[in-house]
Amino acid sequence: MSEILQHREAGVLTLTLNRLDKKNALTAAMYATLADALRDAAADEQVRVVVIQGHEQVFTAGNDLQDFRDNPPNPAATEPAPVHRFLHELTTFPKPLLAAVAGPAVGIGTTLLLHCDLVYAGDNAAFSLPFVNLGLCPEAGSSVLLPALAGYQRAAEKLLLGEAFYADEAHDMGLVNRVVPPHEVNAYTQAQAAKLSAKPLASLRVTKALMKRSQPGLKAVIDEEFAQFGQLLRGPACKEAIDAFMSKRKPDFSQC
Ligand code: COA
Repeated sequence: MSEILQHREAGVLTLTLNRLDKKNALTAAMYATLADALRDAAADEQVRVVVIQGHEQVFTAGNDLQDFRDNPPNPAATEPAPVHRFLHELTTFPKPLLAAVAGPAVGIGTTLLLHCDLVYAGDNAAFSLPFVNLGLCPEAGSSVLLPALAGYQRAAEKLLLGEAFYADEAHDMGLVNRVVPPHEVNAYTQAQAAKLSAKPLASLRVTKALMKRSQPGLKAVIDEEFAQFGQLLRGPACKEAIDAFMSKRKPDFSQC
């Protein structure tokens, strides 16, 4: 079965992350599918709203670490990496974009939410930005968007320590619109998407575009993060972190 399920109903395209045996960790192929789906949905008059969801026990474990090790995205490549293409489509998506999050939302599982218009979370949601713990740095514009949303100190805590934070704190920070029981999160998000789908699309698009004017220079931020990320991905700390994860041991950064 496909690792990204696509379902269309009444103007709502739902993209479901579906790789549960690996906790919905995202591979290059999955980013490519998501990027294509968002690109097509942006151009398709029949799609008015998009929802990204996972399972009621897991949203996503973030980037697939095996993929990072075997096939690291190269910022200098002539063809943009699938993850970069996904971020481009995500950050420029012109129609309402909703996310339903339950269980772990690691790395890009949290940073992608900064680009969604409405985010609903199960009370089991666990957000984390473990980039430093992986020898990496923030991506998807989170180095700028998270401090703007949550304040510098709170963002620094999340980005430097990389510890999980939970649904109530994410709600308090403004990352999440509402917290609901995990088994209700997908249905609740669909109900909100259905309300939006019934509204005039031109007004939704213009309203979103006007609000997004508050993020000038976002592309340059994402490109700069991506360049740094690509270098760190090839460095010793990242290698040690991924080896440690794969061998189910604690990393040793004493030489990094
Ligand atoms: N990349 C590749 N495989 C992953 C993965 C990832 N990001 N996250 C989980 N998996 C795999 C595990 O290796 C394991 O595979 P196995 O059954 O073949 O051993 C399987 O998914 C289940 O993961 P497990 O760690 O046993 O599940 P858990 O419920 O105990 O913990 C997480 C879930 C998400 C908290 C934990 O898997 C985790 O921390 N993953 C890494 C997250 C990460 O660092 N992502 C990168 C962000 S940039």
